[in-house]
Amino acid sequence: MDKIKEMEKIERKLLKLKKSPLYSERILNKAFPVIGEGSLDSKIMFVGEAPGKKEAQTGKPFCGASGKVLDELLASIKLDRKKVYVTNIVKDRPTDNRDPSKEEIEIYGPFLDKQIEIIQPKIIATLGRYSAEYIMKKFSLEEKIEPIGKMHGKVFQSKLGIKIIPLLHPAVVLYNSYSRDDLKLDFKILNKFK
Ligand code: URA
Repeated sequence: MDKIKEMEKIERKLLKLKKSPLYSERILNKAFPVIGEGSLDSKIMFVGEAPGKKEAQTGKPFCGASGKVLDELLASIKLDRKKVYVTNIVKDRPTDNRDPSKEEIEIYGPFLDKQIEIIQPKIIATLGRYSAEYIMKKFSLEEKIEPIGKMHGKVFQSKLGIKIIPLLHPAVVLYNSYSRDDLKLDFKILNKFK
């Protein structure tokens, strides 16, 4: 499989995804869908929720305030961002940074599924509760789903051999619900799998 070509196919489809309720706003704001970024041969794939304003302006995932926190967390375990793949479930910015809706997750989910098929990561580290729930369900781990406050930092083995590690969303640091040290502690788990 030519991974670059397969990823470009996804990009072309996303660019004309008129059935998405977020499409017209993307066009109106001259914004971009945020497909994902990083190595297509990554062992570790990070899956966030949806792009924020800066991400939609640039087409790059986690390049705003949450991205700065993510970069710090990666640096704390000396994990080079270029060696992992970073994406989101929802690829367009939800209006005013609201949470992604069920419909949006349903529309964009298959694009993430295809990305997982292309990259074939060993570890999927989810960032935040939406991606945790989506990925746990996708890998038949729904009975293990707990509130993210309980589930974060645990390692779940899926039948397909991929390990799922739900992590807190980096933005929780910005809302002061958790400290950087709390998140760094969870990130240490990834050290084993680098
Ligand atoms: N939050 C996310 O979940 N993803 C991004 O790309 C940026 C902020």
